[in-house]
Parts: sequence; C-alpha cells; structure tokens
Amino acid sequence: MKVGVIGAGSIGSVVATRLRAGAVPGVRLTGVAHSDPADPDGVPVLPFDELVAESELVVECAGQQALAALGPRVLDAGRDLLVVSVGALADQHLLDTLLAAGPGAVHLSTGAIGGLDLLAAAAAMGPLESVEIVTTKKPAGLVQPWMPEEQANRLREADAPVEVLRAPARTVTAAFPASANVAASVALAVGAWDTVEAAVVADPGAARTSHVITAEGPAGTYRFEINNHPSPRTPTSSRIVPYAVLSAIGGLANPRGVFR
Ligand SMILES: NC(=O)c1ccc[n+]([C@@H]2O[C@H](COP(=O)([O-])OP(=O)(O)OC[C@H]3O[C@@H](n4cnc5c(N)ncnc54)[C@H](O)[C@@H]3O)[C@@H](O)[C@H]2O)c1
Repeated sequence: MKVGVIGAGSIGSVVATRLRAGAVPGVRLTGVAHSDPADPDGVPVLPFDELVAESELVVECAGQQALAALGPRVLDAGRDLLVVSVGALADQHLLDTLLAAGPGAVHLSTGAIGGLDLLAAAAAMGPLESVEIVTTKKPAGLVQPWMPEEQANRLREADAPVEVLRAPARTVTAAFPASANVAASVALAVGAWDTVEAAVVADPGAARTSHVITAEGPAGTYRFEINNHPSPRTPTSSRIVPYAVLSAIGGLANPRGVFR
C-alpha cells in the first residue's frame, strides 16, 4: 500500500520516518506534504497534489484547518483518508462532507485514547445513559487565544489542579482544538454528541496527560484510564499518537487477523 502523509510535525514526522524505515509490512511511504519553513530530514517531500496522485492512502497529521481544506480533495481523488485531527469532525458540516465525499473512504485514528470499540459496541446495544471524558494535562498547553488574559494568567500560575471547562463534547472540542480531539473521538464512537460530557483540567503536577473515560448504559458500566507521556516536541500531543496511526495503517494494509 502506497501511503502519503500530510503534516511533518510531532505526529507526521514520526509516522513518515517509521514508514520510510519499513516499520509497517506491505506499506511504502510516497512522501510528506507540509507547510513548515524547512523540510523534514530523511523523508521525501511532495506537493499536496502529487502526494495524493501517488498514494492509495493519505494520512492527515496536519490539524483541523488542513483536514477541512484538504480532506475532501483526497477522497474526491479516489484515495482513502486516515484522519488524525478528529476534533474537526465536531463540525457537522465537515463530517457530512467527508462522509459524502468519495470514491475514497474516510477512516478515523484512535489517536491518544482507546476503548472506542467497546464504547461503540455498548452504544449499539442501546443508547448510553451517561458518557464522560476528563482530560488532565499541564496548564501551559491549555492556554487558548479566546481566554481573557486574567484566566490565561491564572492557568499559567496555577499551583493546584484547576477545572478549566466542563461542557458537552462539541463545545470542549471547539474550545481546545489541539487537546480535545479525544472528546470528539468518544462522541463519534458512541454516535451521540449530546450525551458526552467533557472536562479539561489543568494540573501543574501532571507529568503525563491523562484521559479518564466513563460510560453507563444497558450493556454495563465502563471506565478507561489512559496516562500518556507528552510528545517532547509538541506538549499538547502525546507520544503514543503516531504509533496509533501506524497501527491503523497496518490494519488497513494487512486487514486479516486484526481486531474490529
Ligand atoms: N486524535 C487524537 O487523539 C490527536 C492527538 C493529538 C493531536 N491530534 C491532532 O493532530 C494534529 C497534528 O498534531 P502535531 O502534534 O503533529 O502538530 P504539529 O503542529 O507538530 O504539526 C502540524 C504539521 O502540519 C503541517 N500543516 C499544517 N497545515 C498544513 C496544510 N494546510 N498543508 C500541509 N501541511 C500542513 C505543518 O506544516 C506541520 O508540519 C493536531 O492539530 C491535532 O489536532 C489528534
């Protein structure tokens, strides 16, 4: 399978480098398209249109705006698309556009979390009564342009955990585009944006980024706790994410004997 990567940041650079090194059997890296001032080392760089033309699967590791601008073009060109910036799909119009586009197919990366398969199964049995995801990370990565200066300073200077926002998943995803992709992932897995409550906590003592997901419904009660080491390059992201992407690429390239 020929795979192209959009984005050469903390996620895309690791994905591309590993693919280039042959880490996923049956997969060949075509190249990377990016918008950084300098090209990444050790991987071929291609203009976006060439990347799409030469790839069977295009992996978006470039952020929500890039997904909105480029995702439909990948699918319309008949290439499959693996989405990492899942939070962008809180925009119902973009979600509908990507699902309707084609002939390429859209796939979603599990990114920083797990348990999405079981949550989807539980939701398939009957509507879940409650679903919550609480994300806790260091304050620096949570300061947002929309925050009043006083709130931003309070976060930067916090010496104890502070709950920054608790709201429906769609609201939290929009408020923290780099940190709350996971709230969108949970909402998409259970197919019910309004049922999922998300909270973001800034904790100056958080050495790792944690996500605690709880759900209750007719199938049972569920609790997943994930503690990820932050990416050294982009602290808002986690080190696991490129490996979740590589695992998904492996499942698409070698679809026998993988969990569904
Ligand atoms: N699903 C998850 O759990 C999860 C977890 C972490 C991050 N993410 C998402 O992944 C995205 C990438 O994360 P990162 O840490 O690698 O970001 P990053 O900022 O380190 O890198 C982004 C890369 O995308 C490129 N880019 C941006 N716009 C582009 C465009 N229009 N065309 C081509 N390239 C473009 C940049 O040049 C850069 O190389 C984040 O924006 C975030 O939304 C998802």
